[in-house]
Amino acid sequence: MKTTVQVRRVDSRKTLEKAYTIRTRVFVREQGVPEEIEMDRDDKRAFHFLAFAAGKAVGTARVVMHRGTAKIGRMAVLKSYRGRGIGTKLLKRAIVMAKKQDAQKIYLHAQVTVIGFYEAMAFRCVGPVFKEAGIPHRKMILVQR
Ligand SMILES: CC(C)(COP(=O)(O)OP(=O)(O)OC[C@H]1O[C@@H](n2cnc3c(N)ncnc32)[C@H](O)[C@@H]1OP(=O)(O)O)[C@@H](O)C(=O)NCCC(=O)NCCS
Repeated sequence: MKTTVQVRRVDSRKTLEKAYTIRTRVFVREQGVPEEIEMDRDDKRAFHFLAFAAGKAVGTARVVMHRGTAKIGRMAVLKSYRGRGIGTKLLKRAIVMAKKQDAQKIYLHAQVTVIGFYEAMAFRCVGPVFKEAGIPHRKMILVQR
């Protein structure tokens, strides 16, 4: 079932807290990532996004720019809202923001289990599997046409 979803840029402390709450639920509680790793210093300068379904914040993502390169990360959708296209909407919005910032390259570190999700959005794996927060990941780069 597809839900009516709105993706908005985080523009206040209050909405940023909502993004952190989703990340804590998904990465810390569900996946067991240590809280001190989940929050990092990139959060201060990142562009954050929230997805709302019927007014409730249910997903988040962020874009971090570094010397003309954009790193998309912290993509998380609450468990009961997955598989409805919300992650795709968040990712599309993050890519639009990266392009708006004139990113020459757009990449992310994908958990190996969700590589298929990013492949569907034209990201391709580069390099070997590595561990981040104890979880196997691969670097993926957006193939830009
Ligand atoms: C990854 C995640 C953000 C995807 O969000 P989502 O809202 O479920 O994604 P969507 O509903 O937009 O899925 C889009 C497509 O990707 C597919 N997909 C989703 N998860 C997938 C997976 N693990 N492997 C392969 N394909 C996947 C869906 O089937 C869907 O395809 P369809 O349109 O043909 O049905 C979400 O599963 C999540 O929060 N997972 C836990 C946190 C996490 O692992 N984050 C990623 C860190 S790198």
